[in-house]
Amino acid sequence: MELSLKGKNAIVTGGALGIGKETSVLLAKQGATVIVSDIKEEEGNLVVEEIQNFGGNALFVKCDVTKEEEIIQLTNTFQKQNKRLDIMVNNAGIANKPTFMHKVTTEVWNKLILMDLTSVFWCQKYATKHMLDDRKGGSIVNVASIAGLGASPSLGPYCVAKAGVIELSTTGALEVAKYGVRINAVCPGWTETAILDVAGDRGKTTMEKNIPMGRLGKPTEVANLIAFLASDASSFITGSVYRIDGGTRS
Ligand SMILES: NC(=O)c1ccc[n+]([C@@H]2O[C@H](COP(=O)([O-])OP(=O)(O)OC[C@H]3O[C@@H](n4cnc5c(N)ncnc54)[C@H](O)[C@@H]3O)[C@@H](O)[C@H]2O)c1
Repeated sequence: MELSLKGKNAIVTGGALGIGKETSVLLAKQGATVIVSDIKEEEGNLVVEEIQNFGGNALFVKCDVTKEEEIIQLTNTFQKQNKRLDIMVNNAGIANKPTFMHKVTTEVWNKLILMDLTSVFWCQKYATKHMLDDRKGGSIVNVASIAGLGASPSLGPYCVAKAGVIELSTTGALEVAKYGVRINAVCPGWTETAILDVAGDRGKTTMEKNIPMGRLGKPTEVANLIAFLASDASSFITGSVYRIDGGTRS
């Protein structure tokens, strides 16, 4: 199946590493012009270089997604170049250090909710506004987690934030469905990226044991799903939530 994103303009938050990096590269390979956005400038620029090396179009825009003003600037970037925003991948996220809910401090709680939920609310809000103003539709893909679909002891703030992202996606999608703006959520299971470092090696081994396919996911596998949802190949899909987890059901 050809995803053909030729002529489309995309933004990927948290695009410097992990799932965001692989998504940026894949969208660019399919022909999109990609804004790789992150707080990590050096790593983000390396992704841009990788894309340019195969003849793709990309630029790095620094944006800390915990700051609303920076998200407004980021989502304005294509408009300032007289281009539209077609695809917004809200991927940036962090995990909390494993802690039981009754021991989570207000500081940790606020940090996680701001980083993993409020930031996605802002990204979705401003991307949707651009897409509605341009009257040509668009696709927003929010990266949630299977942690947002069930209970994951020790990951309370993360679970709550990701459950919020799922609701943000499904509710937001229905509000704008008739204008051609599609919003979907992907829920990866444990995937081999730096975010798992909070779990340590023992934690990772336990995760692998709990995955029916017996291995962690690969960032490229999640990127494939995101690219499909970003593309017109999924044109009748909106308000949907997709697990990508090797069969994990805990
Ligand atoms: N890896 C997994 O097992 C897994 C599972 C489920 C969901 N997810 C979700 O996938 C998404 C990507 O995570 P990943 O696994 O690729 O992790 P990662 O740590 O490799 O990448 C996260 C990226 O987000 C960026 N980032 C962090 N804080 C930021 C900020 N304030 N502003 C902008 N960018 C910021 C980081 O610099 C990094 O490039 C996250 O939303 C995560 O919750 C990951």
